[in-house]
Amino acid sequence: MEKNYLDKIKESSFFIRTQVSDLPEIAIILGTGLGDLINHIEDKKAIEYKDIPNFPVSTVEGHSGRLIFGTLGGKRIMAMQGRFHYYEGYDMKDVTFPIRVMQNLKVKYLFVSNAAGGMNKEFKVGDIMVITDHINLFPENPLRGRNFEELGTRFPAMTEAYKPDLINLADEVASKNNLRLMHGVYVGTAGPTFETPAEYEYFRIIGGDAVGMSTVPEVIVANHAGMSVFGISVITDLGGKDIKEIPTHEEVQRAALKAQPNMITLMKGMLEKL
Ligand code: HPA
Repeated sequence: MEKNYLDKIKESSFFIRTQVSDLPEIAIILGTGLGDLINHIEDKKAIEYKDIPNFPVSTVEGHSGRLIFGTLGGKRIMAMQGRFHYYEGYDMKDVTFPIRVMQNLKVKYLFVSNAAGGMNKEFKVGDIMVITDHINLFPENPLRGRNFEELGTRFPAMTEAYKPDLINLADEVASKNNLRLMHGVYVGTAGPTFETPAEYEYFRIIGGDAVGMSTVPEVIVANHAGMSVFGISVITDLGGKDIKEIPTHEEVQRAALKAQPNMITLMKGMLEKL
């Protein structure tokens, strides 16, 4: 795959350019709990993943898999409805391929959302957490392998993987709208198992506040690509050695849905100020 990697990116991006004239500088990955944001986008144009050359196609049921272009909070944006999870069996180059296409389309800002289990003892189900940093516990780094200098540097810093300016902006918007907004470190794991009580405990001890099965690969590649990243998690369940509730996918979705209006307020408010 690697030999044609750059050509594949260019081909996908060329196709998108033939479909969309006014390309955005802002991209959003809609995780569990932010799907409804689509309904707030004006002047929508959708491109199905299956129609984009070289684009992976999402497998999870209920995830349609398309790129939506339009206007939100007065800004041109593109949104990924459906993302590629490592646990589905995609390799890291596929999981992060859309980010490379965004890079080629000259996207400057990436907003990522996800559902996550909370380890921080102050967190409640339904809280939203701004990701201030992450711990990569995926078995693989998406930048492993040949580095293409035109895409980014061999050894990129991850010191400000989540841009402090964007975190401050989120705090401003949250306080203006009376939203409870937590801050925390996101631990990214391969999944698809939820954690054992000992694992939640371990992730808390090493400095994690929430854990999930996405986001970290995309954020690493977006940073390599020079984008400014903002990340947010909905806390859909809690984990730790004293917590007896058993997390399920249904419960995760239900909790994410409940937090959705707050997530949308935050995202829209941030875009307006960007
Ligand atoms: N663990 C991992 N991923 C998750 C969780 C969790 O508890 N909740 C939502 N996504």
